[in-house]
Amino acid sequence: MYRKAIYPGTFDPITLGHINIIKRSIKIFDKIIIAIAKNQNKNTLFNLQERIKLTKKATNKIKNLKIIGFNNLIIDCVKKYKTNILIRGLRNINDFIKEQQMAYINKNLSPKLENIFLMSSKKFNYISSSLIKEIIKLKGDMKNFIPKIIYKDIINKLNNKLKN
Ligand code: COA
Repeated sequence: MYRKAIYPGTFDPITLGHINIIKRSIKIFDKIIIAIAKNQNKNTLFNLQERIKLTKKATNKIKNLKIIGFNNLIIDCVKKYKTNILIRGLRNINDFIKEQQMAYINKNLSPKLENIFLMSSKKFNYISSSLIKEIIKLKGDMKNFIPKIIYKDIINKLNNKLKN
């Protein structure tokens, strides 16, 4: 059986923590769809098209991935791509509480849905996109947190933002 799963998130920007989850997921499934939420609630640094571009660039060496953007409910995205599996990473108890709530709501809206949670690797379990953005803004070194191939894009974006 051909197995597909969706890994959704905001990815603002994609971090080494996300990459770790993607690499491990692709060993379990034949195809992973990375679904990038427009996410009106978060004041994102990168717009949706930019996040799609950065994610494609950062994952270009990983096979069997599809990267898409979405601006509706995740359960509608799941239906559209004909899978009923969502993957999420869990870093700590705070993630667990938030993820449990989302999982119950999504399951209620779409009973066939199953969530698979991968425990974040120890190496990355303290990373968050907001903290990374703060480090970059304050000119810190981001090499342990962000895929090298997208460093320049992030620095350029932050420099442009600070100018405006
Ligand atoms: N390693 C390191 N950091 C990680 C990580 C990992 N494995 N997994 C997540 N993170 C960090 C991210 O960097 C991000 O940090 P930030 O909050 O400082 O920016 C944070 O954890 C959460 O990011 P992300 O995994 O991208 O998920 P999210 O919580 O922003 O995404 C959606 C949530 C998009 C899945 C959810 O809002 C959604 O489904 N939206 C669509 C609308 C919908 O259906 N709503 C109803 C849901 S019940």
